[in-house]
Amino acid sequence: MARRRVPNFCFEYVEGGAEDEATLRRNRDVFGEFAFVPRTLVDVTSRNQSVSLFGQASAAPFMIGPTGFSGLLAREGDVAMASAAAAAGIPFVLTNVSTTSMEDVARRAGGRIWQQVYMYRTRDFIEKLARRAHHAGIEALVVTTDSAIYGKREWDMRNYVGHQQLNWRNKIDVLRHPRWIADVLLPNGFPKFANLGDLLPPDKTSVRGAAASILGQNLDPSLSWRDIAWLRDLWRGKLLIKGVMSPEDAALAVAHGVDGIVLSNHGGRQLDGALSTMDVLPDVIAEVKGRAAVMLDGGFRRGTDILKAVALGADAVLLGRATTYGLAAGGQAGAARAIEILRSEVDRALGLLGCPDIGGLDGKFLRKLGSAGNVAS
Ligand SMILES: Cc1cc2nc3c(=O)[nH]c(=O)nc-3n(C[C@H](O)[C@H](O)[C@H](O)COP(=O)(O)O)c2cc1C
Repeated sequence: MARRRVPNFCFEYVEGGAEDEATLRRNRDVFGEFAFVPRTLVDVTSRNQSVSLFGQASAAPFMIGPTGFSGLLAREGDVAMASAAAAAGIPFVLTNVSTTSMEDVARRAGGRIWQQVYMYRTRDFIEKLARRAHHAGIEALVVTTDSAIYGKREWDMRNYVGHQQLNWRNKIDVLRHPRWIADVLLPNGFPKFANLGDLLPPDKTSVRGAAASILGQNLDPSLSWRDIAWLRDLWRGKLLIKGVMSPEDAALAVAHGVDGIVLSNHGGRQLDGALSTMDVLPDVIAEVKGRAAVMLDGGFRRGTDILKAVALGADAVLLGRATTYGLAAGGQAGAARAIEILRSEVDRALGLLGCPDIGGLDGKFLRKLGSAGNVAS
């Protein structure tokens, strides 16, 4: 439905990965390498899938992760997704490149809002952003560390000529989507970046113009653990790092005082050929479990995918495309529907697994195919 309802250039932006998309494929294939070992004759009349994240309950073992340009998929897409998350009782991570500001999202949607941060060259920008986040009641900052250099996304490259100028094929395709034009373009033209403070010149905030390349040039390739130490001193709320893929970095994150890590290969959009987060999760859990919250994303499309990660020891999963497809298909109602599908699949699978309380789900319920026994006990 999402593919039909939004223009090709929007859908391919969501759907695509980097280069040969080997990591994008790996993110889905990996779930086939884990299989459940269900228990039977267990009373599963009442089932619980809520988990505790930083001392507060989340109604499901997943949340909505950060995705940029959501305002291109549906009108005020960030508010729509945040509202769907708040109504479902799960956290929402707002992208730095949103088209609604964190203040407006927090005020209009309510719920638990975490703010994703790209580290731009000016540290001044990060200081101001942290101050704004504090005043807006943002619970956590989530620093994305895998994007200091932009991945090579060839579908995107083919859809444009120059700075975000669509080629003719895509311009014509836009005209074939009058409903999208009415929803997204007619109110105020192309949406504008609204969460970047004064990083962009006032006349260059449209997602269509030069903003994307200005932002790209401002990403800081010198980003290092020193910056995390600096941010840890500055920000008293919860601090998470998104983009960890190795046990060594997970240990370093804990040593730098972060509260949580998000294992991520950016949905296969950055380094192609990287492992899936499910490949590295067991080693990361062995390294840091109990010292920091461990979350992950990449390829989660089914309730059973989410439960496989929880059985391996993850605290929660972040959704990327699963909820953006919902948003593109039906705005807030569509995002809510995506959440509901996953909630009901998790609920059903907990019953079928003979594990009515998600707190009891561990490695005894899972086997890695090709290995002799369960993944852990
Ligand atoms: C359309 C789109 C936009 C994204 N924008 C951001 C972003 O602004 N910041 C960020 O940290 N990650 C971003 N990501 C990565 C997601 O947060 C997440 O890591 C990834 O989508 C997970 O994989 P999945 O889509 O297979 O669930 C984006 C992903 C997609 C698909």
